[in-house]
This record gives sequence, C-alpha cells and structure tokens, in this order.
Amino acid sequence: MSPARPRAQGGHLVFEAPALPNGILQGDCLKLMPELPTACVDLVLTDPPYVCGYRDRSGRTVANDNRSDWLAPAFHEIVRLMKPGALCISFYGWTATDAFFAAWRAAGLRPVAHVVFCKPYASRTGVFRAMHENAYVLARGRLVAPGDALSDVRSWTYTGNKLHPTQKPVEELVPLIRAYCPEGGLVFDPFAGSGSTLVAARSLGRRYLGIELDAVHAATAEKRLL
Ligand SMILES: C[S@@+](CC[C@H](N)C(=O)[O-])C[C@H]1O[C@@H](n2cnc3c(N)ncnc32)[C@H](O)[C@@H]1O
Repeated sequence: MSPARPRAQGGHLVFEAPALPNGILQGDCLKLMPELPTACVDLVLTDPPYVCGYRDRSGRTVANDNRSDWLAPAFHEIVRLMKPGALCISFYGWTATDAFFAAWRAAGLRPVAHVVFCKPYASRTGVFRAMHENAYVLARGRLVAPGDALSDVRSWTYTGNKLHPTQKPVEELVPLIRAYCPEGGLVFDPFAGSGSTLVAARSLGRRYLGIELDAVHAATAEKRLL
C-alpha cells in the first residue's frame, strides 16, 4: 500500500492515509502490518500477550505468550504505522517488563504515562493478591497534549472472560479512546483477541482496525462487529 501523504494544516503536518476499511484481519501481525500504510494510525490501543505462559483454570492459553521474540519486530512495525505525535497504549505483563521496555525503546517509543486499572477481585493469589492490570502510554515523537487528561488510576469490570481467556472490558477502553483518539481517527489493535478495542472504538464512531492470529478469536471479533 502507498504511504500516507502529508499536508500542512495549522502549522502541523497532517497525514492522509488511503481509507482503510473498518474491520479485523486474521493472521500474524508481523506479516500483515508491513502491508499497511505508514503513519495511518491515530491511536494504538493494544493488549499483547503478557509473555507469562498464561493458562486459565480451564486450560485455555494465549498464542505467543510463552516467548518474547515477537515483541521487538511487532513494536517496530507499530511505530511505523503511528502518526507522529500519536499514542500507543499497551497493556503488558509486569513479569516481562524488561522485555517490553527493551522493545518499546528500540522502536523509538517514549513512555509518557503509566495507567493502573484496579480490579475489585483477585485474578490470582501468589505473594500478593493480583488485583490490577497495567498499561504504559507511549508516544511517537512530539506529544500533542490532550485537552482533558484522564486519571492514571482507573476502574475495572470483570468480563467473565467468556469470549476470550484474557478479555478486556469494553467500558474501560472507551474513555481511553474518547480522550486520546481524535474524532474520525483510526484506532489500531494488532493483538485484537475477541475485538474488545475495536468494539469500543466503534461505539465512539472512531475508525478501527485489528489483527488477530487465532482464527476462532478473529471470528468472535467479527461477530461482535457485525
Ligand atoms: C491478551 S490477548 C488480547 C485479548 C483482547 N484484548 C480481548 O479483549 O479479547 C492477545 C491476543 O494476541 C493474539 N496474538 C498473539 N500473537 C499474535 C500475532 N503475532 N499476530 C496477531 N495476533 C497475535 C493472541 O491470539 C491473543 O488473542
């Protein structure tokens, strides 16, 4: 695909990508992202595998969650797709913080905030009861500060993980997209799972594009987006 064409508007370069259709692509994001145009994405909101060997009580696992070699190439491509000044909000597994950070820094992403989502329940009990999720907010280039900054301590709703073993709550994703993706902007999730990010984007009238490796999860996302 041809790259986005820049045009000047109000002293800023605005990138006009060829219109991508809303939807979900089934396949490996490492193979599919290179097909997408440069600087077409206004907000990346993604929930990649946590690199923690996840297995839930019924034995469900997450593809690529037992390895980290995909991290650097994935974020390298993610950055290419982001418009300058765009944000990438990425959930991550805290046990692999070093691997995530190495990939983000190598890709040229700069941490600008860290968000904690407080769960009203423990998803696991070890040394502590695990009662939060984390996301880093990462910027490509000079940050365009939003008018209304959200609190970095946020609530969480239990989804029951009925559609995906690590399903994220749409209602907690909606405020992030409303605040950090301009109206008419494109929200991108290369690790889309059951499509929660895309459902949230659609509910706000934003454009959306997801990629999901697992054919069953991609089909679930498609159904949610019908
Ligand atoms: C943590 S889950 C996302 C769950 C999602 N937020 C939801 O609410 O359903 C991460 C997803 O990334 C997918 N995945 C792993 N490696 C991938 C790859 N190389 N390309 C695309 N998807 C991948 C997994 O199959 C999994 O569904």
